[in-house]
Amino acid sequence: MIYLPRAMNHVAKAVSLSALDTAKSSHSKGIPFNKPFVTGNELVYLTRLVDEGEIGSDGRYTLACARLLKERFQLPDTLMVPSATAALEMAATLCGLNEGDEAIMPSFTFTSTANAVVLRGAKPVFVDIRPDTLNIDERLVEQHITSRTKAIFPVHYGGVSCEMDTLMYIARRHRLLLVEDAAQAVNARYKGAACGSIGDLGAYSFHGTKDYSCGEGGALCINSPGLIKRAEVLRDKGTDRARFLRAEVDKYTWSGVGSSYVPSELSSAYLLAQLEMMDVIKAMRQRVYERYREMLAPFEARELLALPQVPPECETNFHMFYVLLPSQDSRDKLLAHFRQDRIQACFHYVPLHLSPMGRCLGYSPGDFPRTEDLSGRLIRLPFFAELTEEDQLAVTESLARFFFKVRHIPSRRMPQRAAG
Ligand SMILES: Cc1ncc(COP(=O)(O)O)c(C=O)c1O
Repeated sequence: MIYLPRAMNHVAKAVSLSALDTAKSSHSKGIPFNKPFVTGNELVYLTRLVDEGEIGSDGRYTLACARLLKERFQLPDTLMVPSATAALEMAATLCGLNEGDEAIMPSFTFTSTANAVVLRGAKPVFVDIRPDTLNIDERLVEQHITSRTKAIFPVHYGGVSCEMDTLMYIARRHRLLLVEDAAQAVNARYKGAACGSIGDLGAYSFHGTKDYSCGEGGALCINSPGLIKRAEVLRDKGTDRARFLRAEVDKYTWSGVGSSYVPSELSSAYLLAQLEMMDVIKAMRQRVYERYREMLAPFEARELLALPQVPPECETNFHMFYVLLPSQDSRDKLLAHFRQDRIQACFHYVPLHLSPMGRCLGYSPGDFPRTEDLSGRLIRLPFFAELTEEDQLAVTESLARFFFKVRHIPSRRMPQRAAG
């Protein structure tokens, strides 16, 4: 069976196959996985900041970033922090997590979600994921709640929201706090509400791999007004400096437990330039995302791979583009094939329950079958705002050659994602 021409029919409409054959990456070192977008205003703001000399913390750039996020996403309050990791650590403290407590989250997440909880002496209680969005399966959450559960930490994977109505209902019913790990979901929405604005707390990331970035950066969204004062003290070395900066007190002093979760104005100046261009960057990412969808639809139609699914109530921020292969073996072969073609693609995440730390916490292989199956078959394609159509065609062509080369793979049909 020849798969290549049929799979490529769609692409051939726009670009002739001979053009495809010669489609070369515009990058001399192959096609990178990510390339942070630069708006042009970063250096303008940084130069101004350096000239003014106010490079410490909570100056006008940090405050401007916070204001922009607050207004744009209708957050009762937001504090700029050095990373989503910092925001999650603050959230774990604000939830009052202590030795022996439990917090529910997916195993399919980054280490920071679980570490925040473990650092407080509490235990991450993992739950399996949904087959469509790869987010925590809200139908499985309630059965994991015990008398020790204090919080739920859902993760909006790839910028597609979790089923927030159900999760909020469960959290309220059991008097738990809900922390949205929205590290990948800045500017994504659920039923019109911004991800990060729905739970009691939310964590945003502005790491170099994110849609809007300043190398390392983050924000803590505070949606329960009762948590704001404690959060301000916790963030600034246990002091009431935030009140001092607002001229509410004439000096600042040690007011509670705290650490240093303040970003430098240097990061904030860079970030402000990015946040001001949020719509432009999102539109660019959307174009890349939709091109992939169009180019790869014929592969999905032939059940060679599956494309991401976005439920109608969710508005993605186009954070990433992944495909699911029929098996882990085919995924690993495709990764090796891409490497040969100098296309940087990667898998994501290694389930936390399978990590050495996960084993220490008492988890074993087989505990979360859907997490293990889906993470083993997932591959993230190069994705960034300025990825060219030419490069996307090169990725598509490489995929077509892969399926042509390993013709036995289609005999293993794509598993049904709706199952379970
Ligand atoms: C789900 C999730 N949470 C938290 C983080 C940590 O973000 P940061 O690098 O800003 O600390 C990441 C990083 O990619 C992530 O994917």
